[in-house]
Amino acid sequence: MSNTKSGCPFEHSTLPPGTDGVPDLDETIEFMMKPDTFLRDRQAQFGNTILSRVFGVPTVYMLGADGNEWVYRGENKYVASQWPIAFRRLLGENSIPMLTGAVHRERRRIVEPHFRFDHMAQFVPTIEASAHKHLARWAEPDQVAIVDKMREFAFEVINVFLFSDDLAKIDLAYMSQEFVLWTRGLFAVDMDESPDAPFGRALRAKEILQDQIGTLVAERRASGEQKEDILGTYLTTQDSDGNLLTDAIIVDELQNLLFAGHDTTVTAMSNLMLHLSQNPAVLAKARAEQQAFDAKAPIRFDDLKAMPYLDAVIHESLRMVAPVRAMTRRVLENTQYQEYCIPKDYAVTVNCPVTHYDSEVWTEPEKFDPERWFDPRNEQKRKPFGFIAFGGGPRLCLGKNFALVEMRLMMALILRGYTWEVLPDQDLTYNAFPLPTIKSGLLANVSRI
Ligand code: HEM
Repeated sequence: MSNTKSGCPFEHSTLPPGTDGVPDLDETIEFMMKPDTFLRDRQAQFGNTILSRVFGVPTVYMLGADGNEWVYRGENKYVASQWPIAFRRLLGENSIPMLTGAVHRERRRIVEPHFRFDHMAQFVPTIEASAHKHLARWAEPDQVAIVDKMREFAFEVINVFLFSDDLAKIDLAYMSQEFVLWTRGLFAVDMDESPDAPFGRALRAKEILQDQIGTLVAERRASGEQKEDILGTYLTTQDSDGNLLTDAIIVDELQNLLFAGHDTTVTAMSNLMLHLSQNPAVLAKARAEQQAFDAKAPIRFDDLKAMPYLDAVIHESLRMVAPVRAMTRRVLENTQYQEYCIPKDYAVTVNCPVTHYDSEVWTEPEKFDPERWFDPRNEQKRKPFGFIAFGGGPRLCLGKNFALVEMRLMMALILRGYTWEVLPDQDLTYNAFPLPTIKSGLLANVSRI
């Protein structure tokens, strides 16, 4: 199906093929049920650039590395960040993902030093202590849901990173529960605000979370204590006019970092454990790599730089199941991509699952194969924007280094000291939204080696 658009300023240009015109509820339902199948079917029919009106918004889906590159390189030139309305209501409007242009750049710069790879070195002992403490609790006679256990661990770690020892004032279990309810509202089909509806409950969770974080911010500000954590940096940063950031801005930023900083890694590490259990040869090789280290000595930051196989396993798992499925931008002016016109205010979306299974980039994409990350032929062939689990361009994941250090450390300890037997008769398929989490929670018996 070829679409034409009157008013497109480019000669001969047409809209991308797909669905234009009246929004189609059936399409939205089809997308929500099976987003990957929805996109792959249309990719097979129309190619790598397709138009759809899912959720009533005209959206151009970029389904390959070239389109991804075009979107990432166009940030603030022809596209800018855009979030669905539920996200805008639930994620603080002052937080980095919501900001665009110069304000976005300035706000990122404030905390960037905290996210440099070498800066992570100082957190290694704390993350390791936390991991040991949590893993000891996993290895009990009763089965555990690994997703829940990972959440407890990752939520503690991100809180230490943001608030250091103010952590003692936080009821982590309560906050974590509210986060889960809050996250459920992000993809609520309707925006029913009644207290029992997912969106309404998520709004309430947002209030609770902001209230808790707000108390921490106010107490630290009142105490005048200087700490070198992220909260400390926000409290002492002045904007370009010399004003301190307001508490409302700081609370929004911290809430976003708490969300972005644990839901993603929980998903990534749980999925990784499933992948390892399904691929015994990979598991054996990953364990063998860990045997080169002294299991009794604390993990050093330099050790984490010397685990190439584990790193490949992590990347392969992120390729197979990317925690962030898609990224959306709004088109700033009528613009042209390849032979297509993309009108102002249309949404453009890049998509991890379709990109990561693109057989033009990946050999046997369905195969879990960490070796591909060492294969120079594959490396050459793989296009830079063919792997986008951490996004790209000016919005490349701010927490990428944090995530990689946390994941390598936790997985190294698991590989060195534990086995896990995934229990039969559970649903190991993934929820598509909000993040691709294993439906059963990954029930397993964990034991010490
Ligand atoms: C496996 C773990 C993670 C994955 C797969 C992941 C993925 C992503 C992706 C794909 C984006 C780009 C969104 C876009 O282009 O719109 C992003 C942005 C972001 N991530 Fe992560 N992330 C992870 C962990 C983290 C962690 C641990 C933190 C913080 C501690 C974090 C903080 C952020 C922030 C603040 C942004 C917004 C950047 C901006 O808009 O400039 N992420 N992440």
